[in-house]
Amino acid sequence: MTTEDAVTAEAVESLRGTGGPRLRELLTVLIRHLHAFASETRLTRGEWETAIAFLTATGQTCTDTRQEFILLSDVLGLSMLVEKINGHSDPGRTESTVLGPFHMTESPVRELGADIDLVGTGEPCVVSGVVRAADGTPVPGAVLDVWQADPHGFYDVQQPGVQPAGNGRGLFTADAEGRFWFRTCVPSAYPIPTDGPVGDLLKATGRHPYRPAHIHFIVSADGHEPVTTHIFVAGGEYLDSDAVFAVKDSLVKEFTPTDDPVLAAEFDVANPFRHARFDLVLDPS
Ligand code: BEZ
Ligand code: FE
Repeated sequence: MTTEDAVTAEAVESLRGTGGPRLRELLTVLIRHLHAFASETRLTRGEWETAIAFLTATGQTCTDTRQEFILLSDVLGLSMLVEKINGHSDPGRTESTVLGPFHMTESPVRELGADIDLVGTGEPCVVSGVVRAADGTPVPGAVLDVWQADPHGFYDVQQPGVQPAGNGRGLFTADAEGRFWFRTCVPSAYPIPTDGPVGDLLKATGRHPYRPAHIHFIVSADGHEPVTTHIFVAGGEYLDSDAVFAVKDSLVKEFTPTDDPVLAAEFDVANPFRHARFDLVLDPS
């Protein structure tokens, strides 16, 4: 009769032929922690079966346009922990946050100033800013991949045939001074998908599924680390209870009501409009 510790030791020892020290380290620690979890909780066979069924259902819910495993990682706080572990500590740099499961299609290339709200149902707004290097110099040609949900809280990939493909998405290139600007609608808070296993988990734990209103960005440029981030609408609901723990204070931005016909004409937007300013500072690579 082997002891519980002997089972763990044997499983760890089975990894001795693993190609590559990092893979061996990752698998060793994973086995140790999984075994410790089972021992500490005195996991029953029935609970083990429930967990297997849950993970199976999670995989079976994934499609080309739905990533339930990322969603699971998000609601467990794992995605945000990985962001923290891999983020930099310099307070001057733009902070990163979760990628989320809806960056699964290429954003259409758009000219600076283009409107990513192809349906035009929301409150018009302009987002503008400058991408800078750590020393404060602008980064010409920085590429900004932007995506957001529509005013009803759905991404285009969730509603094929209802929303046009590419609605709420754009791939922009900053100008020679690192400046960017685009038009969109003010995003609204929305629930993450609850019709799958992750929704069952939220219900079982009495948690709400909402994310505060936000716009996603991946910003990249030669010689710099890309940053995956969002801006959140200041004053919106759920900023202090995001279902995926992704809010950082530095990313909460005013979407300022602006009544300025000259500026509106410059941005080619109806006056009055809302204006969010997002200046980014990238890390060198
Ligand atoms: C999102 O913001 O798109 C998102 C992030 C995490 C989970 C679900 C949605
Ligand atoms: Fe989102």
